[in-house]
Amino acid sequence: MIIAIDGPAASGKGTLGKKLAEYYGLRHLDTGLIYRAVAKALLDGGNRPDDMAAAVAAAKALDTSHFEDSGALKSQAVGEAASIVSAIPELRAELVAFQRSFAAKPPGAVLDGRDIGTVICPDADVKIFVTAAPDVRARRRALEYVALGKPADEAAVLADIRRRDARDMGRAAAPLKQASDAHLLDTSDMDISTAIRAVIDIVEAARAGRGRG
Ligand code: C5P
Repeated sequence: MIIAIDGPAASGKGTLGKKLAEYYGLRHLDTGLIYRAVAKALLDGGNRPDDMAAAVAAAKALDTSHFEDSGALKSQAVGEAASIVSAIPELRAELVAFQRSFAAKPPGAVLDGRDIGTVICPDADVKIFVTAAPDVRARRRALEYVALGKPADEAAVLADIRRRDARDMGRAAAPLKQASDAHLLDTSDMDISTAIRAVIDIVEAARAGRGRG
């Protein structure tokens, strides 16, 4: 089974993806970490995040066997750079094969990102588009920074989220959008356990509709 989860920054898709993978015994790939790893490599190397040649070279050099879900990759600066680098079509093209082969390996996987249901896994068994109001997402992201021991200015986080939403939805290459056959889940008024129950219900309903295929 392949489950595609897309949604804007801090919508909760990463947490939900991880929980769904645990629940169904599937592998999990947070594809944002790939773009973040490329962005961090560019920043560390003194390159600009819109440098196409450097971005493609960084993608080729990535260790795709392991993406460390570390505080360094989760920083606001790396997230901002990731949203710039990810608009480069040549970079996205370089990363397609890895993501598809990850999804295809048995027993299947949960992938979360921006273009999983639309570009990477258009034939996924279940597609879910997770969203939440920008101020709710900003509050959640600010709490994540606090948990990581980082300073968090909620107004600045909200401005960053709005900027990233605009960039991710407005770009020409694989823009963030809900696939026509994706289930919409708005988690604005849900706590995490309610949201987990809701995504499991979506998957169960989709499997029942397909004869549990
Ligand atoms: O999900 P996360 O915030 O970690 O993603 C960082 C950035 O990487 C996003 O703002 C987006 O621009 C980019 N991204 C993407 N396609 C994906 C996953 C992430 O363009 N599948």
